[in-house]
Amino acid sequence: MTLNEQRIVVLGGTSGIGFAVAKAAAEQDARVVVGSSSQTRVTAAVAALGPGAEGRAVNLSDERATEAFFEAVGEFDHLVYTAGEPLDLLELDADLAKVRRFFELRYWGALTAAKYARKSIRDGGSMVFTSGTAGARPLGPGWAAASSICGAMEGLTRALAVELKPLRVNCVAPGVVMTDLWAGMGDAARDAFYASEAARLPVGHAGRAEEIAEGYLYLIGQTYVTGQVLHVDGGSLLT
Ligand SMILES: NC(=O)c1ccc[n+]([C@@H]2O[C@H](COP(=O)([O-])OP(=O)(O)OC[C@H]3O[C@@H](n4cnc5c(N)ncnc54)[C@H](OP(=O)(O)O)[C@@H]3O)[C@@H](O)[C@H]2O)c1
Repeated sequence: MTLNEQRIVVLGGTSGIGFAVAKAAAEQDARVVVGSSSQTRVTAAVAALGPGAEGRAVNLSDERATEAFFEAVGEFDHLVYTAGEPLDLLELDADLAKVRRFFELRYWGALTAAKYARKSIRDGGSMVFTSGTAGARPLGPGWAAASSICGAMEGLTRALAVELKPLRVNCVAPGVVMTDLWAGMGDAARDAFYASEAARLPVGHAGRAEEIAEGYLYLIGQTYVTGQVLHVDGGSLLT
């Protein structure tokens, strides 16, 4: 597949899954625009992506900043939303304000991006959002917030596929992926977590960002799929 000069905006594209999507798209001749909150990370990602890549800092929890971002970016073909932050596991008696805050970036940020991006997306374009296997398979106590966010994203995907037609709207649900998202765990705990995933999963390893990126590119290029959730999870839902 070649993306033949199509312009792809990747929000969260400076790290992890989003960066892998931007890199794979650029390798297929797309013109990529990455956005995230840190100007330093944006500058580094644009340099790593090479000639033709663009980037802008934007705090996606801020509606006015998101609106300004899309005004500055102008027309494009595909929106990918991978912005996210590490989620704490929260038992049901947790501080509810904290639980609500977890929706800000991953759910409300995505909905806000859709609101301001839609008019700039050219005919034949698409949006691809991000949920996670936790939506279908909470791993144990404490997963209420994370599972709910994933479920909300999948519902939003189906609703927007209807509302924004013929623009296609889809979602990737990754399993555990080895990215900076887990950096806060500390090296030993993180390595043990990845090893336990490798032992559990049918494919025998935790996800690599490049493997997950292929799911996004498939949904960008597949013109007869909309309103779908693609699990790219190493078989996580089966174990
Ligand atoms: N990794 C996994 O195991 C896994 C599994 C299932 C689902 N997911 C989901 O997949 C998505 C991508 O995860 P990842 O592993 O690629 O994480 P990551 O490597 O930590 O990347 C997260 C991206 O979001 C950006 N971001 C964070 N806060 C932002 C804000 N307020 N405004 C704009 N951008 C912001 C970060 O850049 P800045 O720091 O510059 O803002 C970064 O580019 C997340 O929604 C995550 O929850 C991940």
